Amino acid sequence: MGIPATIAIDGPAASGKSTVGYYLACELGYLYLDTGALYRAVTWAALERHIPITDEDQVTTLAESLDIEVLPNHDHDDGRQYTIRVWEQDVTWALRTPEVDHAVSPVSTYAGVREALTQRMREIGARGCVVMVGRDIGTVVLPDADLKLYIIASAEERAHRRHLDRLAQGEETGYDDVLSDIRRRDRIDSSRDAAPLRAAPDALIFDTTELSIEDMFERVLHIVRHAHRQPEPFKPGA
Ligand code: DC
Repeated sequence: MGIPATIAIDGPAASGKSTVGYYLACELGYLYLDTGALYRAVTWAALERHIPITDEDQVTTLAESLDIEVLPNHDHDDGRQYTIRVWEQDVTWALRTPEVDHAVSPVSTYAGVREALTQRMREIGARGCVVMVGRDIGTVVLPDADLKLYIIASAEERAHRRHLDRLAQGEETGYDDVLSDIRRRDRIDSSRDAAPLRAAPDALIFDTTELSIEDMFERVLHIVRHAHRQPEPFKPGA
């Protein structure tokens, strides 16, 4: 019994998984790793270097050697949850532009890119005391995670949340465009060959459509506090 040391949270875009994961990590004093930011960092770097997003070989080579730093954030000055640096440059907010949003799903379908980034994620996961958030954490990156949550919400509610985020950042994107982008990304994320978006068989499914952030967090915290680690499989003669 005890608080799970590795917590995997997966789910579609804007389902609330990052917010819940971040609060959870703060509450438990754990490291928070938003793995989508790593795919975004590769995408941002490819756009910056004018590498065509459709050029799988070049994008993969870039991912294999890209200098990405993930730093915990202590001052929360501009609402950020962490700082991402690429080539020693703070790109935390640059990773959230519509250009990166648009190009990141195709980049995340490349098997070589996934392999390179999964390796980095596992190294971080092996240290324990981590809340790792993404699409394939419970299924591929950390299949032995102590607790797996799969967070969902309706596409309309997710588009509404993403639209509000965009407006708060001063962007003029319309709700309908955000909704169609969310649907497009759901389609790509769920139908790709490499590590498609899906719940691990042992994940707890959690629907946040009707929930405020406070309610989501309270319920997830309850689950975590009452979760217990999976028993070790019985080994005859051990
Ligand atoms: O969570 P996000 O929107 O920042 O994710 C960006 C993209 O990266 C999204 O298209 C899905 C992909 N992704 C993934 O394939 N696997 C992960 N573990 C995390 C994100």
